[in-house]
Amino acid sequence: MESSRDRWSDWLLQRRFGGDPQAVERARATLHPVRDRVLDQTLLHEAAVLLDVGCGDGLIAFGALERYPGCRVIFSDISQPLLDHAAALAGDLDLLARCTFLHAPADDLSALADQTVDAVTTRSVLIYVQPKLAAFQEFYRVLRPGGRVSIFEPINRFAAPEPPHVFHGYDVTPIQHLTDKIKAAKRANLADVSSMIDFDERDLLGWAEAAGFEDIHLRLEAEILAHTEDASWESFLHTAGNPLDPTIAEVIEHALTPEEVDEFTRYLQPLVSGKRGTRRMALAYLWASKPARALP
Ligand SMILES: C[S@@+](CC[C@H](N)C(=O)[O-])C[C@H]1O[C@@H](n2cnc3c(N)ncnc32)[C@H](O)[C@@H]1O
Repeated sequence: MESSRDRWSDWLLQRRFGGDPQAVERARATLHPVRDRVLDQTLLHEAAVLLDVGCGDGLIAFGALERYPGCRVIFSDISQPLLDHAAALAGDLDLLARCTFLHAPADDLSALADQTVDAVTTRSVLIYVQPKLAAFQEFYRVLRPGGRVSIFEPINRFAAPEPPHVFHGYDVTPIQHLTDKIKAAKRANLADVSSMIDFDERDLLGWAEAAGFEDIHLRLEAEILAHTEDASWESFLHTAGNPLDPTIAEVIEHALTPEEVDEFTRYLQPLVSGKRGTRRMALAYLWASKPARALP
């Protein structure tokens, strides 16, 4: 039976979709190409062992099991509910014999012996890890010589913090007095999110090199785009951007009076429904090798 929920499982299995079934489909369409690019760079082969750090509900891990029928996968995460969820799914898919589940933080994989895996992957995990160099050092330690690390991380510093007159990509100049209150309430109640914006692509390269990796590659993709997704107002209100974020609906309930909520809705709803906003994001793919002659 699955253990109880935590904020990581709540977000991955529910809150990121804002109660919108179409958002599940949209996420799949966006995430599968990312998964495939991360896996491409592992150069994994049959009978190899992959460690997916911060596996969540198994996007990368199940992708590897399907793509490399002889491989074995270690699912690791700090969330026991998510590990239980992935294990249940692996059971349903008759894949348990090829899976191991490890409850551990990215920066302390001491349950794994040195040089025991062929590839390490992570997707959108290091943003939640404070000691990022220590995580890279752990990836290096558990990799066999010649093994590969393949990482995808959003570079949130690219778009954060938003200027005062912008809220979730929308120009809110006429109601900035309200969005100021919302932003202040969010800051006051938010968990420490510094790890999400305290680094960029150069830091990722530096940590990979400092950990001992060679043949290091990084591709940065940055975009400033008009909103194109058909997101409803309801899903805009009820979607949390990441596991540490409250939804807008949760914040405005505390930050605004009912009259202010009406004013906020009257102004912003047409902008959201009309997709009259801008999305800024930067994403980094990094892959690298442990030297083939690396000493233990
Ligand atoms: C945004 S989710 C990504 C999940 C998965 N990698 C994917 O691609 O769908 C972040 C994941 O990182 C995990 N996580 C957060 N902090 C972590 C840490 N310090 N060490 C390992 N995993 C962590 C969370 O439990 C969650 O599963």
